[in-house]
Amino acid sequence: MTLDPEQAKKLVGEKAAEFVKDGMIVGLGTGSTAYYTINKLGEMVANGLNIKAIPTSKASEEQAIKVGIPLVTLDTHTVIDITIDGADEIDPDLNLIKGLGGALLREKIVACVSKQEIIIADERKIVKKLGTRSPLPVEIVPFGLEVCLSKLKPLCKDLALRMRDSEPFITDNGNYILDLSFGENGIENAVELEAILNNIPGVVENGLFIGLATSAIVESEGELKILKRPN
Ligand code: 5RP
Repeated sequence: MTLDPEQAKKLVGEKAAEFVKDGMIVGLGTGSTAYYTINKLGEMVANGLNIKAIPTSKASEEQAIKVGIPLVTLDTHTVIDITIDGADEIDPDLNLIKGLGGALLREKIVACVSKQEIIIADERKIVKKLGTRSPLPVEIVPFGLEVCLSKLKPLCKDLALRMRDSEPFITDNGNYILDLSFGENGIENAVELEAILNNIPGVVENGLFIGLATSAIVESEGELKILKRPN
């Protein structure tokens, strides 16, 4: 049975909420799939679930407040029990590209202190090699735009400053995003590329999530598959 994209997002988003237990500190992802998890968690809280959550974006924060999920911050809670978040690409080792929703910086900070990072997606997000389906978002400081453009250009096939309503898209942290495309061959060595990107002055963070996801809940033909990161 083929589900429409919205049904698939709801299915995986709500399934992931089942992994959240009483007393947990929960990272709330960002995007149209995580939206369903946040709504479900709101329902569960209304029915007595006791959790505290840390959102990865202003949008998720607003949604969490609306559905009644109690919030805390990384200032008081530096370890997160479980984070549920979407992704733009998932490779066979559960390495990811994230950030088409623009929240990659906070998402990565939250992921790196999460004991469990559960990724929710439909099967179209699964790729053999990162960079073959989605561009790689790179968050940069606006002051360094031209420098970053010239340093990043040789590393990819093409790149573009992300725009919204004819203006540069501004992240929750006041930064720009450059979207790097790699063509049909994708990213040759994601680990190496991540290190190179992080070494460029002006680059704040990139959308490569290497070794951060612990499992993924993926919808395919109406069925759910749980994928675990290989050891
Ligand atoms: C936001 C993200 C999202 O998790 C990613 O873009 C997937 O979003 P969606 O569930 O809407 O497809 O990384 O920065």
